[in-house]
Amino acid sequence: MRIKKLLSMAQGLDDVEVRGWVRTVRTGKAVSFMEVNDGSCLNSLQLVIDSAIGDYSLIGKIGTGACIKACGALVASPAKGQQWELHVAEIEQIGAVDSHYPLQKKRHSFEYLRTIAHLRPRANAFGAVFRVRSAISFAVHQFFQQRDFLYVHTPIITASDCEGAGEMFRVTTLDDQCPPLNDDKTVDWQQDFFSCKTALTVSGQLQGELFASAFRNIYTFGPTFRAENSNTSRHASEFWMIEPEIAFAELSDDCQLAQDFLRYMVNYALENCGDDLQFCNDRIEKGLLDKLSKLGAANFETMSYTEAVERLLRSGEKFEYPVHWGADLQSEHERYLCEQVVDGPLFVVDYPKEIKAFYMRGNDDGKTVAAMDLLVPRVGEIIGGSQREERYDVLAARMNELGMESESLQWYLDIRRWGSCPHAGFGLGFERLLMYLTGMENIRDVIPFPRTPGQAKF
Ligand code: 4AD
Ligand code: MG
Repeated sequence: MRIKKLLSMAQGLDDVEVRGWVRTVRTGKAVSFMEVNDGSCLNSLQLVIDSAIGDYSLIGKIGTGACIKACGALVASPAKGQQWELHVAEIEQIGAVDSHYPLQKKRHSFEYLRTIAHLRPRANAFGAVFRVRSAISFAVHQFFQQRDFLYVHTPIITASDCEGAGEMFRVTTLDDQCPPLNDDKTVDWQQDFFSCKTALTVSGQLQGELFASAFRNIYTFGPTFRAENSNTSRHASEFWMIEPEIAFAELSDDCQLAQDFLRYMVNYALENCGDDLQFCNDRIEKGLLDKLSKLGAANFETMSYTEAVERLLRSGEKFEYPVHWGADLQSEHERYLCEQVVDGPLFVVDYPKEIKAFYMRGNDDGKTVAAMDLLVPRVGEIIGGSQREERYDVLAARMNELGMESESLQWYLDIRRWGSCPHAGFGLGFERLLMYLTGMENIRDVIPFPRTPGQAKF
């Protein structure tokens, strides 16, 4: 039986068997107590072991971290702190530990725990975070499936750079010592595995748009990769992204979907991850539960990029990066806007076209595009999206202006040629959402085995 189920019992039970990992042991001459956790919930089950059981001397040899199996009766606990305890009739050690076990019962820093990522799932905070991660993954599908969105698996290996930022991890089977060369000494990618230059995808959007042009409303949810050399607390080289794409939609519909989605995720977490969020509220971010309850009901504010820049300029704040119209907003600006200016989630819309990707729909002013970023306190940008340029000529001209080879993206242009329709979508970084939901301040602490510049251990 899983411990979560046992702890929620309405009555005691005979003949219960549990398996799990020991968190603490207190041994005594007459009786010993052992806290056992099996990952099903935050709380551990207290085992009460009477010296009358068979091999009582074994208990002294079971240390924190050991894997055990115990049988006995679940009875109401007379002591404070837990409702139920297991009166052990038999106990067996499945896997022993030695005294070098690094996760002894004491507070460890998140930095230290990152160095033992193979063991940290057994620490309370990571138990909570990864249970929330699992529950919210399910909620993502539930949200879209309830609304009749088609789930599409977009490719991981791709020949196109969706965001155009050149931050892709190359995928190749060519000999790295002496690759085949063209006459001009450049690498002959024709001879590579896919007969062209390929890389790991930075986004499933381009293919998502193709599917939206057939199924109307679709979403992707999968891993994406960015070879961006930014060592920050909110960037990972491998992260999971949720990307819906909706046909017959403009930017305001896109923002509405993003708001509905985020509120759904928050309410789902509040309803289904109570104990874990309570733990996060007590140990990670004070006031987390209040923040989430407020967001679950909030109407998100919207501000144009132009106004955001004016607000920042007027703020009198000393920012590390100067602000001016045309400059990309940095994390410090994003946080100032949602933390100090509106104190809640904020859509910033209509960015200058120069700082956004090629596919965004041009606004009538000729200077901005129908883009939106959703900013939230503590995290900054959590969602990036836009209405897409559905006019063939406008898109082709923009690609040309940016010096892009349109041949390799002819398939992308084609859907503007045959049955084009207005459409929009966004991408939400799943880890950023989890940071927001759990209060964790470093992206490395919400993904099981983080990949960041210089780090691919585990
Ligand atoms: O703003 P981005 O780059 O937008 C896109 O990729 C679009 N193709 C999405 C779309 O319209 N379908 O990324 C979207 C989101 C960001 O808002 C952020 O939450 C997350 O993905 N993100 C990252 N998360 C972790 N580590 C990184 N290096 C990230 N880069 C982006
Ligand atoms: Mg973005």
